[in-house]
Amino acid sequence: MKQVLIDRYGTPWEVARCAEMADVGAPAADEVVFDVLAFPINPADMWFCRGSYRLKPPLPATPGAECVGRVTAVGAAVSHVKTGDLVINLQRENWAQRRKVKGDDAIPLPAGIDLRQAAMVRINPPTALLMLSDFVDLEAGDWVIQNVANSAVGRLLIVLAKQRGLRTVNVVRRPELAADLKALGADVVVVDGDDLARRVGEATGDAQVRLGIEAVGGAATGRLVECVSTDGTVVHYGSMSGEDPMAGRSNFIYRGVKLTGFMLGRFLARRSPGQIRDIYAELARQVMAGTLSAPVDSVYPIERIKDALMHADKGGRNGKILVSPNGAI
Ligand SMILES: NC(=O)c1ccc[n+]([C@@H]2O[C@H](COP(=O)([O-])OP(=O)(O)OC[C@H]3O[C@@H](n4cnc5c(N)ncnc54)[C@H](OP(=O)(O)O)[C@@H]3O)[C@@H](O)[C@H]2O)c1
Repeated sequence: MKQVLIDRYGTPWEVARCAEMADVGAPAADEVVFDVLAFPINPADMWFCRGSYRLKPPLPATPGAECVGRVTAVGAAVSHVKTGDLVINLQRENWAQRRKVKGDDAIPLPAGIDLRQAAMVRINPPTALLMLSDFVDLEAGDWVIQNVANSAVGRLLIVLAKQRGLRTVNVVRRPELAADLKALGADVVVVDGDDLARRVGEATGDAQVRLGIEAVGGAATGRLVECVSTDGTVVHYGSMSGEDPMAGRSNFIYRGVKLTGFMLGRFLARRSPGQIRDIYAELARQVMAGTLSAPVDSVYPIERIKDALMHADKGGRNGKILVSPNGAI
């Protein structure tokens, strides 16, 4: 069985290799075995390889926050999935040809779902969904601002916000993305930089922006904080710059803006297993209906994990880099 291992933390394509490992074996009564059909390379996986992610397990380690798989064996005590079902896995270490996991961690997906999209259902869609629901009680017509608007999360957020009648200001670093994001439902697209709050005010008619969603960090956090109205909330959920958020204190002292953070696991943990399955069932329904999707740039075999990682690190991609460990996509 092929599995990606990192033997040390460092530059992802230098430290990751495709290794030959023993098979996972038969499931225990409460376990499920599945073949991994596809996994994406997410920014968090890159941080994991670099050793700068919040989880830094002993080495050698296997990255992989999400995947889609097809069940090949089910323990006697597991009743919610059966052999042949498509599943996503709530646990990590998914960059392998086969996985054996606790039954409760295997969430079934509908048969016939697009495998590329299914590989990306576990993390980014619920992240976009819960950031829109769990911080500010928004009503139709309200404005939300986000940066990294061209990311997978950002694009999903545009669509989910539109479905709720919310209006979005989308901050990007490449002006040529505007038409694409507007076609998805973005109301305003602006390029990050000096004077962001003034330009956002002009574009929205000085609308109140009650929620900001931020994943660049550094001074970009401060620029987004300035766009949010008095008593608004900014949710920091990632740092594409690798820097901690920096924002002027007057935003907090004089205007009462709240800066908080989001981590999917923390917000899913507030919900019951049934509620979590319901969230994924609804997201999968939307994927099946074609209303939710994330663009894919390229697909690599697992043997070319180093090339895949190098490609994932490049800016200006047209979507995610996926890996197909068993040649299924
Ligand atoms: N907290 C959570 O639970 C959670 C869950 C999911 C994702 N996330 C975070 O969400 C963010 C987006 O993830 P994703 O999978 O959607 O990303 P993605 O699809 O891989 O896209 C990455 C985006 O980041 C932009 N970018 C890269 N470097 C940048 C920089 N230095 N300054 C500004 N923008 C930069 C890219 O812009 P271009 O399009 O111009 O190249 C691209 O739009 C990441 O930070 C990730 O860690 C957090």
